[in-house]
Amino acid sequence: MTTASAPGKVILFGEHAVVSGTPALGSAINLRARVIVEDLPGRLEIEACNLMLRGFSLDLTTGRVSSPGVLDAIKYVSAVLKEFHADGLRVKVDSDIPPAAGLGSSAAIVVATMAALNKHMSLGLSREEIASSSYKIEKTVQQGMSSPMDTAVSTFGGYQLVSETVHGIDLPEMHIVVGCTEKEHNTRSEIQKVQSLRSRYPDIVEPIFCAIGAISTRAVPLIRDNRLEELGHLMNFNQGLLEALGVGTRELSELVYAARGAGHSLGAKLTGAGGGGCMIALPSTAGSLSILVALEQARGTAFEVKTGGAGMRLET
Ligand code: PMV
Repeated sequence: MTTASAPGKVILFGEHAVVSGTPALGSAINLRARVIVEDLPGRLEIEACNLMLRGFSLDLTTGRVSSPGVLDAIKYVSAVLKEFHADGLRVKVDSDIPPAAGLGSSAAIVVATMAALNKHMSLGLSREEIASSSYKIEKTVQQGMSSPMDTAVSTFGGYQLVSETVHGIDLPEMHIVVGCTEKEHNTRSEIQKVQSLRSRYPDIVEPIFCAIGAISTRAVPLIRDNRLEELGHLMNFNQGLLEALGVGTRELSELVYAARGAGHSLGAKLTGAGGGGCMIALPSTAGSLSILVALEQARGTAFEVKTGGAGMRLET
């Protein structure tokens, strides 16, 4: 039996623009997906449990139960199993990361599955190979454009600055508040929306991407030097530009404004593809409590995460 785990992520700055190669800064968080692989001669089974289910439906005519979180997890795990011609195994997945929320749940499941299979089947893959195969698999299942952000952060952990290349950066841990809307998001359709705006209005969208890239680059020394107030300003700038790209929603804005209005809040923005999913807020050193309360009052699900978490690893 082999167990591996991999973290979810937050994109601190630069989502969407990164798809066109502009710098974005992401970080691993202390929520993880775990995958257990064990021998099951003659069969191949995937079992998904505790996936922080956000959506669940029962078709009373067919009796079919569907949960997007579970179906997605199974889709991603089976793509990895197929890639490595795996057979005679039972694969169990469980995850603390809310699915379809912009927190990198699918990447974490792909990376953890690959890490577990790598050991169990003695595939001999390096960490770099796991990152690049995971990116390829996530992209194939999503059937669209994407950056290597989620799979790189989940594989290597810590902070990753992603543009046309991926660079790990050594930065201190931060406490971030996450606020989730009820609405799941669809990364592929949000990317398509932004990319079609880019083809129609290149003279407007390219400068927005460029400004977003500048924000991501400026953020790095601010995190290093603990200049959190300025970092909060950058989050607010980035949110405005994401709104201009059309990926904001009323629910996300309500949470962003609720967080900004709370005491001890330095800035807030959506995280991930937008169109639903989650936002993040930066608390001052006085703590997160007032932001957590404000987000819950605005009908969000709120929790605190720590950045700079460990990448994929085998568990004993
Ligand atoms: O919503 P998520 O977690 O899949 O993040 C998407 C971030 C994008 O920049 C919009 C796409 C990408 O692959 O970087």
